Amino acid sequence: MKPRLTVVSPKAVSGVRLPILEVRSLTKVFRSSHAPVKVLEEIDITAAAGELICILGPSGCGKSTLLKILSGFIPPSAGEMRLDDRPITRPGPERCVVFQEDALFPWLTVAENIAFGLRGKGKDRRAARREVDRFLSLVGLTPYRDYLPREISGGMKQRVALARVLILKPQVLFMDEPFASLDAQAREEMQNLLLSLWAKLSHTILFVTHDVVEAVTLADRILVMDKNPGRIRAEIPVALDRPRRRDDPEFIRFSRMLHDGLRGSGEGNLPGWP
Ligand SMILES: Nc1ncnc2c1ncn2[C@@H]1O[C@H](COP(=O)(O)OP(=O)(O)OP(=O)(O)O)[C@@H](O)[C@H]1O
Ligand SMILES: [Mg+2]
Repeated sequence: MKPRLTVVSPKAVSGVRLPILEVRSLTKVFRSSHAPVKVLEEIDITAAAGELICILGPSGCGKSTLLKILSGFIPPSAGEMRLDDRPITRPGPERCVVFQEDALFPWLTVAENIAFGLRGKGKDRRAARREVDRFLSLVGLTPYRDYLPREISGGMKQRVALARVLILKPQVLFMDEPFASLDAQAREEMQNLLLSLWAKLSHTILFVTHDVVEAVTLADRILVMDKNPGRIRAEIPVALDRPRRRDDPEFIRFSRMLHDGLRGSGEGNLPGWP
């Protein structure tokens, strides 16, 4: 069967599930010592609860800036963003971020790094330990609980980074190329781990990547960005069954179509697309 591939207006609201994250006309202009630079222009995103959205775009198109704004670390120049119908104005535990190379505390063990965010949450030590044990097990690091970050691999560090935010039970997880520094095998393992955690915990995820195959592996929907200024050029539902196999002919056809659509890209539409 031919994969269903539809390019719809970025303004369209997709899905029948209730929207949890709504972003309207978000614009960001950086005013440095040089001329002002418009990095993001009129970004609209609607994410349904439990949806996994990938944001795919070239270097410098404003992906990290977008996640920093949605996390509340920097303010937008214009536009609105709401989580569960409440305006986003500052960082909050209901929105967590995992970065490309997440800095763990080098002097804390794996378990202590994961437990760190629970401090000050009023959990007693036994309950906190149970939570840490659960998340250690979910990310497959139980045997490494007492290791220091320098004693574990890059992939394991990213598992700690993931467990450290998941333990806070965020409603929305922002991931900024979290597996980009890993080799191909570790990257694939992390993608599979993320999908199995997502199936169990049902977070809403906004996942930024450069990598077409990663986006097709993970996403319910892919938002394709343009640069100068950063805009959402297309919204592409990924109607492939899960679990997805990278050697499945439909997967390959879909990835190739997306890849060709990006490569042939100029302004506006994706040339040659249905
Ligand atoms: N604080 C800042 N002040 C001025 N310009 C900035 C600032 N932060 C980012 N920029 C500019 O905004 C643009 C987008 O940067 P951003 O890091 O969001 O891109 P990106 O899509 O994440 O790129 P990459 O894929 O390489 O990570 C770049 O041109 C960058 O120089
Ligand atoms: Mg970036």
